[in-house]
Amino acid sequence: MKYLIANWKSHKNIQEVSEWLKTFNSLILENQEVQAAMKNREITVIICPPAPFLALLNEQKKDMPYELGAQDVSSCPQGSYTGEIAAQTLIGLVSYAIIGHSERKQYFGEDEVSITAKTALCSEASITPIVCTRGESDFIPKEVKIVAYEPVEAIGSGKNATYDDVIAMKEKLQLPEGCAYLYGGSVDPENCTDYLKKPGIDGFLVGTASLDAEDFFGIAECMIST
Ligand code: PGA
Repeated sequence: MKYLIANWKSHKNIQEVSEWLKTFNSLILENQEVQAAMKNREITVIICPPAPFLALLNEQKKDMPYELGAQDVSSCPQGSYTGEIAAQTLIGLVSYAIIGHSERKQYFGEDEVSITAKTALCSEASITPIVCTRGESDFIPKEVKIVAYEPVEAIGSGKNATYDDVIAMKEKLQLPEGCAYLYGGSVDPENCTDYLKKPGIDGFLVGTASLDAEDFFGIAECMIST
């Protein structure tokens, strides 16, 4: 089983989200092979839009075989925390949440304390955390089941890391048995095959190439044909 995760970051307005969904849903309906792979969980596809669009996606996805995820959750529980989105608030809207993305670390002071709190709050809300790491000096909570390695220099740069580098980092991270290991950083429909020909990488966290429904779908196609 492999994961394919779209991280739209702070992109798209409501009209662009509707257009993306229309295209993505029709690509799934047209391609029986990808549709079957998504249905039988050969690939688990998770879309992480900006939070205001989660309800819309829930409504428009109907019984489409993909899941929804949050790009972050609050480190506070539900309560008087104006502007925050608690894990509890996301119950029924998402099954997954990205935690500790390097952009949260760089711009919003995400650290070991907040990652620990967020991971615990996700678990209490039955939301599976997808914890991001920039390398071996980043903190990863022990109980995590999905880790995404995203070297900073590869994010949004077009300079994706090599398969060998990604595997070398996996060895250094010494993840617990059964933890899925994903790669993120300039993954696109052309370079994704490089990571799939050999074992050890359980899928992708995709930023830029997920903004275009056809490119993102192209990665899914690639994943089932490699
Ligand atoms: P990118 O972003 O695919 O644009 O490099 C990946 C990410 O930051 O999750």
